[in-house]
Amino acid sequence: MTGTAFVIGASGQIGRRAVRALAEDGWQVTAASRGGGTDEEWPRGVRTVRVDRSDHAALTAALGDGCDVLLDCVAFDGDDARHLLSLADRIGSAVVVSSAAVYTDDRGRGFDTQEEPDGAPRYPVPIPETQSTVAPGPDTYATRKAELEQELLAAGDRLPTTLLRAGAIHGPHSPLPRELFFVRRALDGRKVRVLAYGGASRFHPVHTANIAELVRLAARNPGSRVLNAGDPVAPTVAEIGAAVDAALGHEAETVLLDGPPVGTVGDSPWAVAHPLVMDMSEAGRVLGYRAVTTYEKSLPESLGWLLEALHGADWRDLFGRAVPALDFFDYAAEDRWLADRG
Ligand SMILES: NC(=O)c1ccc[n+]([C@@H]2O[C@H](COP(=O)([O-])OP(=O)(O)OC[C@H]3O[C@@H](n4cnc5c(N)ncnc54)[C@H](OP(=O)(O)O)[C@@H]3O)[C@@H](O)[C@H]2O)c1
Repeated sequence: MTGTAFVIGASGQIGRRAVRALAEDGWQVTAASRGGGTDEEWPRGVRTVRVDRSDHAALTAALGDGCDVLLDCVAFDGDDARHLLSLADRIGSAVVVSSAAVYTDDRGRGFDTQEEPDGAPRYPVPIPETQSTVAPGPDTYATRKAELEQELLAAGDRLPTTLLRAGAIHGPHSPLPRELFFVRRALDGRKVRVLAYGGASRFHPVHTANIAELVRLAARNPGSRVLNAGDPVAPTVAEIGAAVDAALGHEAETVLLDGPPVGTVGDSPWAVAHPLVMDMSEAGRVLGYRAVTTYEKSLPESLGWLLEALHGADWRDLFGRAVPALDFFDYAAEDRWLADRG
């Protein structure tokens, strides 16, 4: 059964796909964002509203009589959870985007300890949803997301919420297209790249279409639960590089560095010492979820979007805020390291 759906963050990479998936599934969708943006692939009938989710009165007004399901793509902390819960009387159920960043390993190591000596987390492979998480609190992105999760789960009887722990999100309209790491090198004619950790890093990606499918199923099957959100296969960084090269018709030598990056050399958006790979079986069991795409299959569309966005534009203007430019594109340091290595 479907009904009315209200999507906060609708014009972002997740929102665009999720609005489309919900509308095509029969929901009457209201697409909310501060700018009121739309997507050309949305079916007719999707209503857009401009609202800032941090403005309580405005969000309450935009919700009006309420909705059967609410998707929140931009909830980050306990305040956001409490804000949603204060509207529980007018929301049937919710789906809220969280992050794999909440996970800790059995020694309490996680995203927040990565830079510490021996701080790189060694998660089980794959990570089940029952794995431990950081203590909730206001300090970091991970602790705030944990607070968001715990507030919502504790109030599951008032507002059944599916929390989706997303991996490294990819797809068109990404504000942080990690593939830029390889794409820009190809556009710059770089014939070599260095990958730390032997190129074996695995940082579970998830395509927006797969998140949208999880949203669609959770909307139809409300519940108070946490689910991992990852693609069916988590490729290594070396495999991602090879797939990008193949799609672009570019050839580059990959030099593997055994250990961690040396300064900026060998670093990449996927460089993790030990794999972060999530178990996707629970979503299959609970929702009957089947992924709608894979990293490899979805790559040409994502790269097509990225190349079009980059055409005639400076990538720093597009993504400079999200991509730590100097760290990932320090060709001079890379060349020095390669020369020293002989
Ligand atoms: N990127 C990753 O790899 C990754 C990994 C794990 C989890 N996540 C999670 O993914 C979520 C981000 O989703 P996304 O990647 O789809 O983001 P996005 O592409 O940056 O889009 C964000 C959307 O939210 C809207 N928005 C931002 N602030 C708003 C506000 N205060 N009120 C109403 N609308 C607002 C934006 O439009 P306007 O600017 O017009 O408002 C836009 O539509 C976050 O919860 C993040 O923690 C991301």
